[in-house]
Amino acid sequence: MTNFKNIIAEKIAKQIDMDAKTIEGYIEVPTNKAMGDYSFPCFKLAKELRKAPQMIATELKEKVEIDEKIIEKVEVVNGYLNFFVNPVLLVKTVLEEIDNKKECYGSSNIGAGKNIVIDYSSPNIAKPFHIGHLRSTVIGNSLYKIHQFLGYLCVGINHLGDYGTQFGKLIEGYKRWGNEYQIEENPIDELTKIYIRINNLCKEDESVLEACRDNFKKLEDKDEYCMSVWNKFRELSLKEFQRIYDLLDVHFDSLNGEAFYSDKMTEVVEMLEKTGKLVPSEGARVIDLEDKQMPPCMIEKTNGSTTYATRDLAAILYRARNYDFDKAIYLTSYEQILHFKQVFEVAKLLDLDERYTSNLVHIPFGMVLLKTGKMSTREGNVIKLEELLQESVARVKEIMDAKNPDLENKEKIAEIIGIGAVVFNDLYNSRVKDEIFDWDEMLNFNGETGPYLQYIYVRTNSILQKAGYVPSLPEVDFEELNNKVALDIIKQLYSFGDVVKQAAEKYEPYLIARYLIDLAQLFSSFYNDNKIIVEDKKVQDARLYLTYSVKTVLEAGSKLLGMKMPERM
Ligand code: ARG
Repeated sequence: MTNFKNIIAEKIAKQIDMDAKTIEGYIEVPTNKAMGDYSFPCFKLAKELRKAPQMIATELKEKVEIDEKIIEKVEVVNGYLNFFVNPVLLVKTVLEEIDNKKECYGSSNIGAGKNIVIDYSSPNIAKPFHIGHLRSTVIGNSLYKIHQFLGYLCVGINHLGDYGTQFGKLIEGYKRWGNEYQIEENPIDELTKIYIRINNLCKEDESVLEACRDNFKKLEDKDEYCMSVWNKFRELSLKEFQRIYDLLDVHFDSLNGEAFYSDKMTEVVEMLEKTGKLVPSEGARVIDLEDKQMPPCMIEKTNGSTTYATRDLAAILYRARNYDFDKAIYLTSYEQILHFKQVFEVAKLLDLDERYTSNLVHIPFGMVLLKTGKMSTREGNVIKLEELLQESVARVKEIMDAKNPDLENKEKIAEIIGIGAVVFNDLYNSRVKDEIFDWDEMLNFNGETGPYLQYIYVRTNSILQKAGYVPSLPEVDFEELNNKVALDIIKQLYSFGDVVKQAAEKYEPYLIARYLIDLAQLFSSFYNDNKIIVEDKKVQDARLYLTYSVKTVLEAGSKLLGMKMPERM
């Protein structure tokens, strides 16, 4: 696709002593459309050339030669050199590219040959899947799709929290009272009850605690009974989690959780021992990180058992060797920022090439807050994810019963909208921001929401259906779209690929979410001002093709967010 920024940069580079890449980096897209489509801030050259930016701009304007068919007009405003792209060429460029690439419009191969490992979701078994895990799941899934769209080979890993001393306790509780609880029917709730009960007993009775520790040791030594109980916990929990993954349509390439590394940690400990930096501390063994202004990273506890951090180190080794990653990213709430800082620092001590250890990235995100305060699973104020998703679907169904009672296939459509609303709500703000969870806002069909995007998408769909055809591109007269509202849409469509790349670079799916809202709003005003199905076939074909293009990009973009589009609603 014609890259206008690139062309402008090349032409400027011919006139001054600066390479085109740098110039391209300086070129801006002015928010004020009256300032042109691209703008080069000449003050970037002022120091070197010892001239006022205004003067540089004026001189450059005379010298820079760009074909009128490409750039229609160049203007100087306050030291900025503003470029106006030939609108008909722009329309042609965008529509031809969409015609060519269809649902792959905006994709690229910048990631070809590169492997990226994404560690996301990662709930703890035998514990409720909480809202933080939902965020990790939704953001991770979106980043997976975005990277895939850019040609990367992605490996999605659900690093299940399925190991640790708490399983020694759970095994003990199960051994004592397992048959009193309906574990098969309702595994997570019942196991949580058992866990609370055994924990209380441990506090009263030291010998019980001893038995729990012993169970964990047995588990580490692959004792048959302990393994079989642990396996049962894991399988039942996964079955329950799977219902949430099914609702969200999220899939993983690997379910290797913490337990998978149980036999891979000795190697880590040995590597660290060799560095001489693994030191005793109050009976435990740690890596001191004082020179990095961090507390020590505990590798081995007083009783000799390993830690969450050690398992993450073993996972880094394993992933480097097995996936040969160019980048490994991790999604958790910001509560784990320190953990990952420590782990990534200690990873540098492992016997591992720097190209791995310098490409570990933790991507933190904010908390989810209820309008009334923190959403907590700890203080009894438990919000069950599955119920939350179901509630969203039920609320949508209610809205639809009122709005469009005769709609066919209502259940399925309500599911697409209800789930889409939650997913979109999770992705609409920069991820580090705490998210406010508000039903009315996220289900507002006219707001900046998933349902709104879906609604506009359905609109595009029904327009095309009513027309009964999508014109073939040679029928489209680009001149017909040479007007402000249509061009605003075309420009938005043009930038899709760049937005996707930025979203990947910054690990921020919200850039795509906002982009789609803008696109939908632009289309909505186009559609309010212009009839699409009209007498004049030439006008109709151009508008229909534009409608088709918007539909294509809305669908491609929402896929990248992990949100589905209904065909009707
Ligand atoms: N299971 C952890 C938790 O629920 C998250 C794991 C994140 N991934 C990792 N490799 N540490 O907090």
